[in-house]
Amino acid sequence: MDAEEAGSTSFSHAPDARVIRAARQRRLSSNLHPDNVLATAAVALGGPRILTKVRRFVYRIDRHDLSLTTVTHMTDLSNAAAIITGASSGIGEATARRLADEGASVVLAARREERLTDLKAEIEENGGTAIVVPTDVTDRDQVQTLIDETLDAFGSVDVLVNNAGIMPLSLMKNTHEDEWEQMVDVNIKGVLHGVGAALPVMMEQGHGHVVNVSSVAGRRLFPGGAVYCGTKHFVTALSEGMRNELAPDHNIRVTSIEPGAVDTELTHTITDGEIVEMLESGHDDMTPLESEDIAEAICYAVTAPERVDVEELLVMPTDQKE
Ligand SMILES: NC(=O)c1ccc[n+]([C@@H]2O[C@H](COP(=O)([O-])OP(=O)(O)OC[C@H]3O[C@@H](n4cnc5c(N)ncnc54)[C@H](OP(=O)(O)O)[C@@H]3O)[C@@H](O)[C@H]2O)c1
Repeated sequence: MDAEEAGSTSFSHAPDARVIRAARQRRLSSNLHPDNVLATAAVALGGPRILTKVRRFVYRIDRHDLSLTTVTHMTDLSNAAAIITGASSGIGEATARRLADEGASVVLAARREERLTDLKAEIEENGGTAIVVPTDVTDRDQVQTLIDETLDAFGSVDVLVNNAGIMPLSLMKNTHEDEWEQMVDVNIKGVLHGVGAALPVMMEQGHGHVVNVSSVAGRRLFPGGAVYCGTKHFVTALSEGMRNELAPDHNIRVTSIEPGAVDTELTHTITDGEIVEMLESGHDDMTPLESEDIAEAICYAVTAPERVDVEELLVMPTDQKE
């Protein structure tokens, strides 16, 4: 069997049991660094072309010390195409890196093309696969193009992470109507555009996973957040409704991710001076989450065994009060 054949047969759905068993035994018996295990396994199977795939499984075994049975039942992303909107910064960027690391071919979508191009180069340098599709999620045609280009490049849309969002918080009395409208356009309509474009493809495939990035603001309200929280309550409600309709009958899993405060650029769009002041005085003692914390939560949901639909994940900084 040559390397190409080994890659397509052994790794198309689940890791080859022989490889995992051998790698795990070597790891346990000799306490080798995973890279050494990787090199040995790759050479045995035919060369560097499957290096990345072998590395992924060996690291997975090394990190979690999972049993062979558990590993083989996890959802394998090595033949999956994953679209991430808002991939140019923060949570989206970290999620793209994380899913690429897990073997997915990632599709990087946002408006700032240069940032996406840099991220693509970084992912490729690390052995991953990525394409860039500059997209404004408020434009339904552009989101349709995003899906079409993903299909052209990879032949499927396996994961859609609806992450793009904005949060120009303001007090209602200050009537920032333009910002209210922008939040509705990006946080609500943008998500719906992704769902509307991806669903026909996923239905046709007979599988898919939609991850909607909501927020703790999709469950609770705070001053200055009436409209933002309204948009995120929408995303949480939409996700529950989608899961009810799509998971049991169409094998399309749906997950709502609900982060508390994460250290990103999200607050940069706030123009209401009273809110800026409130934020500066209110969060001094808190250690916010890192984008990678949320990327890990998303990775957990999309790699869970196929029988598992992680419907909702609320992830808070330990010392965030509400
Ligand atoms: N940070 C937090 O504390 C927190 C907490 C809970 C939930 N969230 C949610 O997490 C998601 C990601 O936010 P973040 O914290 O990572 O903030 P961020 O760093 O500001 O990222 C926001 C992303 O959304 C993209 N975006 C904004 N408008 C867009 C549009 N019209 N079309 C396409 N992409 C657009 C931005 O890219 P471009 O500007 O390049 O288009 C950027 O990549 C948001 O939905 C946010 O509501 C964040």
